[in-house]
Amino acid sequence: MGIIVNKTRHEVTGEMADFSAVLKGTEIEAVKEMTVLVVGGGGREHAIVDALSRSKRVSKIYAAPGNAGIAEQAECVAIKDTDVEALLAFAKERSVDLTVVGPEAALAAGIVDRFQEEGLKIFGPTRAATRIESSKEFAKNLMKKHGIPTAAYEVFSDYQAAMDYVKEQGLPIVLKYDGLAAGKGVVIAETMDEAEGALRDMLLNDKFGHGKVVVEECLTGPEFSFMCFVSNDKVFPMVTVQDHKRAYDGDKGPNTGGMGAYSPLPFITKEDEEYAYNHIMCATANAMIAEGCPFKGVLYGGLMKTPKGIKVIEFNARFGDPETEVVLPRLKSDIADVFMSVIEGRNVTLEWDKRAAMGIVLASKGYPGDYQKGFEIEGVDSVDGTVYHMGTARKDGHLVTNGGRVLFVTVMADTLKEAREKANEEIAKIKCENLFHRTDIGWQAIR
Ligand code: AMP
Ligand code: GLY
Repeated sequence: MGIIVNKTRHEVTGEMADFSAVLKGTEIEAVKEMTVLVVGGGGREHAIVDALSRSKRVSKIYAAPGNAGIAEQAECVAIKDTDVEALLAFAKERSVDLTVVGPEAALAAGIVDRFQEEGLKIFGPTRAATRIESSKEFAKNLMKKHGIPTAAYEVFSDYQAAMDYVKEQGLPIVLKYDGLAAGKGVVIAETMDEAEGALRDMLLNDKFGHGKVVVEECLTGPEFSFMCFVSNDKVFPMVTVQDHKRAYDGDKGPNTGGMGAYSPLPFITKEDEEYAYNHIMCATANAMIAEGCPFKGVLYGGLMKTPKGIKVIEFNARFGDPETEVVLPRLKSDIADVFMSVIEGRNVTLEWDKRAAMGIVLASKGYPGDYQKGFEIEGVDSVDGTVYHMGTARKDGHLVTNGGRVLFVTVMADTLKEAREKANEEIAKIKCENLFHRTDIGWQAIR
């Protein structure tokens, strides 16, 4: 017989117990009783739902809006991820214990602030802290002020002044629209014509809306993503991971939201990781406190290992997509515990699977440009690996394509090479006439 502890002070440690638990000797066996709401409906949210479904604490998962794959592990509710008031009403009505936010748009809409005002537990940064992603000017100024290594830059709202600066700096040069542009607001201009065209789109034609442009130095070196769970000044690193932004093999073609990812990264040493942890991730967490907008949630460092050291390309205020789909399968710790600990400011111990994870996106032909939806997909159930749904739907009982990025196949193996071979074999089992994928994910690590 155990003792039931239910949201009272823990008799041994004196800490408040968050969940009902049954104490059996020294072992605490969690009772599955948490109801969790995951906001979003892509591959990242599918990976979060999948990790939550492995939790010893979680008994019920809702996803809003979810997708056809998520629907197999959670109850999907048709609420838009940015409809904060409807999400709040739903969370109250269903006595949701924890809400986890996937997409940046929901964070920028202030979902965390609203839930907190109403006393609900939610995982993610406030609107003010989300500016580290939603405003490139805010992020760049923060880095400059607090000595966090990043590319040299200037911010412009005037077309002519921006063009003059570009001419002064020379080529190649990077032009970034300041705002959420879903990865499409960045141009690396190799010629003056390209620079002129891009600045015209961004500042004169308001292609992404009316905003400013950050013009910055072009850095070189391998890029990688370093995501950390952050709770004010506490920073808990996840394993590093690399995304592939270009649409086609050989890193050719247009920039996308990401076409595949893998972890671990052999070219990132322990020293690199320590440097990035201390001088970038912890420094940024502290800078956010100093600026009056402490960060809680996942801080995503988009970093580059340049010949002059590791520098920040961008920050995101959330889990990366598709990085999350290869990182969370390697997480052995109970993710519900991790989320609650971050919210309540407790320490977190993260345990990782030593195996390599390789994940490949299957995208609609035409993506990231125009594409059609509604093509039937077969063979998903025969894949030996994890299939995360990024943009799918069910039509007349059949699984169909319903987005630019459609599916993500993750395979784990002892080495990256084995994982990629297996991933490519497994992908061949998925039949759909309108999908394409890269075959060279991990080329910088697999020679
Ligand atoms: P961002 O939206 O800031 O992540 O930029 C998208 C992509 O553009 C990055 O993943 C990089 O590949 C590239 N990029 C952005 N900033 C720079 C820079 N300063 N130097 C070189 N490449 C960059
Ligand atoms: N994979 C890049 C991102 O999530 O922004």
